[in-house]
Amino acid sequence: MRMYDIIKKKRDGASLTEGEIQFFIDGYVKGEIPDYQAAAFLMAVYYKGMDLDETRALTFAVRDSGVKLDFSGVDGIRVDKHSTGGVGDKTSLVVAPIVASLGVKVAKMSGRGLGHTGGTIDKLESIPGFKTDLSEEEFLKVVNKVGVAIVGQSHELAPADKKLYALRDVTATVDCLPLIVSSIMGKKLAADDDCIVLDVKTGSGAFAKTVEESTTLAKVMVDIGKSAGKKMLALITDMDRPLGLNIGNSLEVIEAIETLKGNGPEDFTKVCVILASNMLYLAGKGSLTECEDMVNDAIKNGTALKTLGDMVEAQHGDSAVIYNPDLFPKAQFSYEVKAEKSGYITRVNTEGYGTASLLLGAGRNTKEESIDYSAGITLIKKTGDKVQAGDVIAILYANDQARFASATAKFISSTIIDDEKPAERPLIFERVE
Ligand code: URA
Repeated sequence: MRMYDIIKKKRDGASLTEGEIQFFIDGYVKGEIPDYQAAAFLMAVYYKGMDLDETRALTFAVRDSGVKLDFSGVDGIRVDKHSTGGVGDKTSLVVAPIVASLGVKVAKMSGRGLGHTGGTIDKLESIPGFKTDLSEEEFLKVVNKVGVAIVGQSHELAPADKKLYALRDVTATVDCLPLIVSSIMGKKLAADDDCIVLDVKTGSGAFAKTVEESTTLAKVMVDIGKSAGKKMLALITDMDRPLGLNIGNSLEVIEAIETLKGNGPEDFTKVCVILASNMLYLAGKGSLTECEDMVNDAIKNGTALKTLGDMVEAQHGDSAVIYNPDLFPKAQFSYEVKAEKSGYITRVNTEGYGTASLLLGAGRNTKEESIDYSAGITLIKKTGDKVQAGDVIAILYANDQARFASATAKFISSTIIDDEKPAERPLIFERVE
């Protein structure tokens, strides 16, 4: 078999066999297939797509490219939640402790930022001292003790995805259905969870921009997860506006803490309650309504917040910041963005908001770059809000004032103000079971 022939076959629109897909993944992980052939292959898949059999074969090959995690040492049922990525999407920081506080274990492996989207691991590392690289033994110990632990992807788990993820990020091949499916499900299936809830984002800040695309993505992932023996469920949630008001690492942790105290923004709280309820439902804790009541109670009675504090402590972080978020280091400079005209915020380009946050220092331009954890954006006005010219619509935070010009320009060009109040957009579009 030759990689050249596999690239040509896909370029010409034919379906690949399981053997050909396996040959590519094996050769790429071993370093026998160079990046330039892998990049050509990814672009051919981007343009010609993959059918369900090919997508499943690619997913299983990614899953089998490294070690599988063994969670048999964790007592009780294990549930995971995975988002396809968004802007201001700090749901894991809220739903994981809620679900754990209600007796369902969450042994979570999360990622760093990808493209314009933020990553849970970067957000958690904004907590002073917090460790995301626990050994497998310590990881499982924390899960058993606290009910939840969140760590970064180990080097041995799905190494094919680790290499492909980085290559896709620099070859404009991230937003491609079979590549997203195999990346997410390849990793999820290498872990040892019983149930998986997928949060499939849709809209201008998501990798799948339309509800139709997102629903197809959700159906394929649910189908593949079920065929691997997992209990699966997916929710299509809105990412045509950022979730909540804060974008940026420590800013998002602070918003997650406020949400666990019951003081979170309405949209973000609602999405968290629905996701957590569905995780509990899938884990067999009761009907959806019963699970929703349990979730609301766990927020009201403070047990979910305490579980987050316990997890932070068990992962070597300073839990004082959880109970007093004022202790988070602050950005040195802030800048108010003002509306250039009067009207309604009719639409925002959410990807543009994510990019503005990266320009402030909240994300990386290269893999090696370090992150400014306190940089980011607080939205004062969101889609549907009425504004007068000169009103402050957002506050930008950075430790380098030179970053404000490009971030402000990106933010303004991503905010459309017009005369008509826009129609309400649902927060949850579909549930795929
Ligand atoms: N998250 C992933 O892990 N992979 C993707 O391709 C997109 C989002």
